Amino acid sequence: MDQGIRYIASPGRYEAGMTYRRCGRSGIQLSSISLGLWQNFGDITPYSRSRDIILHAFDRGIVSFDLANNYGPPYGAAEETMGRVLRNDLRPYRDELFISTKAGFDMWPGPYGNWGSRKYLISSLDRSLQRMGLEYVDIFYHHRFDPHTPVEETLQALIDIVRQGKALYAGISRWPLDQLKKAALYMKDRDVPCLLLQDRLSLIDRHNIKEGQLDFIRQAGIGFIGFSALGEGVLTDRYLNGIPEGSRAARGSHLTADKITPELVSRIRQLDKIARQRGQTLAQMSTSWVLAHPATTSVITGCSSIGQLDDTIGAVHNTVFDPEELQAIDRALGYSEVS
Ligand SMILES: NC(=O)c1ccc[n+]([C@@H]2O[C@H](COP(=O)([O-])OP(=O)(O)OC[C@H]3O[C@@H](n4cnc5c(N)ncnc54)[C@H](OP(=O)(O)O)[C@@H]3O)[C@@H](O)[C@H]2O)c1
Repeated sequence: MDQGIRYIASPGRYEAGMTYRRCGRSGIQLSSISLGLWQNFGDITPYSRSRDIILHAFDRGIVSFDLANNYGPPYGAAEETMGRVLRNDLRPYRDELFISTKAGFDMWPGPYGNWGSRKYLISSLDRSLQRMGLEYVDIFYHHRFDPHTPVEETLQALIDIVRQGKALYAGISRWPLDQLKKAALYMKDRDVPCLLLQDRLSLIDRHNIKEGQLDFIRQAGIGFIGFSALGEGVLTDRYLNGIPEGSRAARGSHLTADKITPELVSRIRQLDKIARQRGQTLAQMSTSWVLAHPATTSVITGCSSIGQLDDTIGAVHNTVFDPEELQAIDRALGYSEVS
């Protein structure tokens, strides 16, 4: 049994400056900023720090929390952390929370612990619910497109999960445009519409715009929830003066130090200058840029401290860019040179 001071949510949490956006053509609104638990919420982070960040997020008006079966490390640990916080602190607020989980990457050994089969998706969600101590999640996503499983099998599993009441909504993550179109149609025809596409979008990764996913979901009435808007920390001031101890690049945790090249740092410095001219930090400008896209419902942000989270939340106050700013950003990134 966890001991400690009982948490009471801030009474002013919905007047704390957060904005809320409607998710496509649906009844759901999400906080413009969602908290992602991919890294920094597993066993290598002290539980008290993870708990403080999650509760602070809620006090700042964040209602959307993004998880997956394999977030940690080790796999499953982030869901266990979330489960502990739910059990001890957030249980009275369950109806104010929009909690997601996903399956699609390797989770357990053998042929049924990966990709997109019905067997994997359904058993994985059951385990996720156990770890979080929940009867249902608000949205369950297929985590990545599986080229070997018939899309109908994956999509039917998502639909059946919703019909069984184990998830209130279903979504997909990292699906290419042609398959996304199939998914939208298949799910709509069965009255379990795809609520959200979850995918990467940032100043330095605009593939969803170029390939047409964002245009498509807008007209299809599907919401968009973007991840890695900060380029895992690259699009902030984190690496402007070297690689700090404990940072993601120092740990080599997906982002590796060799990616922080002098050329990249010099471009980031120019972006930092533009952000300051806008009256923002670089983390805020990077987040605002994703929020500025008309398809965007929410940006899932990762963080390792409350200070980082508070900084990023400030992005919601200025999501308008004038054409000169957009051109300056593209020039800083060298896009105008290649296009
Ligand atoms: N569907 C998918 O396949 C998928 C894939 C990736 C992510 N996601 C979701 O998206 C979430 C966010 O992804 P992400 O963590 O890669 O992206 P991110 O938000 O681009 O990067 C987060 C990292 O940036 C640094 N940071 C955050 N705020 C900062 C600030 N204000 N100033 C300076 N540095 C700051 C921190 O690095 P340090 O840790 O070094 O402090 C933090 O861990 C994940 O937690 C997950 O929920 C989904």
